[in-house]
Amino acid sequence: MIPILHLACREYSVSERDCNPVVNFGERGFSRFQRIAKIYYRVQWYPGAMEEAERCAMHNQKQPCAICRANQKIGPQRKSHTVVAVVAIGKNRELGEGDRLLWHIPDDLKRFKRLTLGHPIVMGRKTFESIVKILGKPLPERTNIVVTRDSNWKYEGILAASSIEDAIELAKQQPGSEEIHIGGGAQIYEQALPFIDKLYLTLIDDTKDADAFFPPYEHLFTKKTFEEARESNGLKYRWVDLCRKL
Ligand SMILES: NC(=O)c1ccc[n+]([C@@H]2O[C@H](COP(=O)([O-])OP(=O)(O)OC[C@H]3O[C@@H](n4cnc5c(N)ncnc54)[C@H](OP(=O)(O)O)[C@@H]3O)[C@@H](O)[C@H]2O)c1
Repeated sequence: MIPILHLACREYSVSERDCNPVVNFGERGFSRFQRIAKIYYRVQWYPGAMEEAERCAMHNQKQPCAICRANQKIGPQRKSHTVVAVVAIGKNRELGEGDRLLWHIPDDLKRFKRLTLGHPIVMGRKTFESIVKILGKPLPERTNIVVTRDSNWKYEGILAASSIEDAIELAKQQPGSEEIHIGGGAQIYEQALPFIDKLYLTLIDDTKDADAFFPPYEHLFTKKTFEEARESNGLKYRWVDLCRKL
């Protein structure tokens, strides 16, 4: 019964366990939540729905509210998938050069692992090959989906797709697909940008020569949900989570 609730919790960065949209979000937040539900799930609301939701307190199955009913109705047919990207870039949106990353920040690699673990991750053939070169194997405990135009491309245990759209559709069928990760590189980020709902950025306060750049995103992702300033061996960087403006 989670999809709408899930979406709302992410929107408002509230733990799902504690979530009651009316209580947590207040009246204004709730009407925004209704809008989101309508856009994503075509749920219709009616006068009194909010009062009903208040009485329901979300999980009272004896007297389900509009949200619970909507979730019951759509739950089995429609699953919620958020498309996200974890990206580390310099001041000029530099991503990499050749087959390598530009900075080595151990805490940032840990964050990448923490965020992506258990979720499908879609990446370009070049990024996949650079990961295998560094790790000696594909990213473990994540379904790796490689986008390539080469219909003969094969790697044991790895899924291949011939377009971004096919890769995302394939990702939806995988474990952990409530969050689908776009893993780069530049070509894939650029083409997948219209599908991405949320960016987990590492903004590095440095510039480097590069031949791969992240596309302009600032005008599309305007809602900051998290920010933390950090430092590694004198290198300043920030973790910034941005959501797409609705
Ligand atoms: N800083 C970061 O967070 C980060 C993250 C990831 C990667 N990177 C960096 O990004 C760089 C690699 O990026 P890149 O742009 O060169 O390569 P890429 O995006 O990883 O892969 C490009 C390949 O993807 C396939 N492809 C692209 N568009 C396609 C489409 N529409 N349909 C089917 N296949 C498609 C093609 O594979 P085929 O040639 O096989 O057809 C293409 O050669 C590296 O420097 C890497 O270190 C940085």
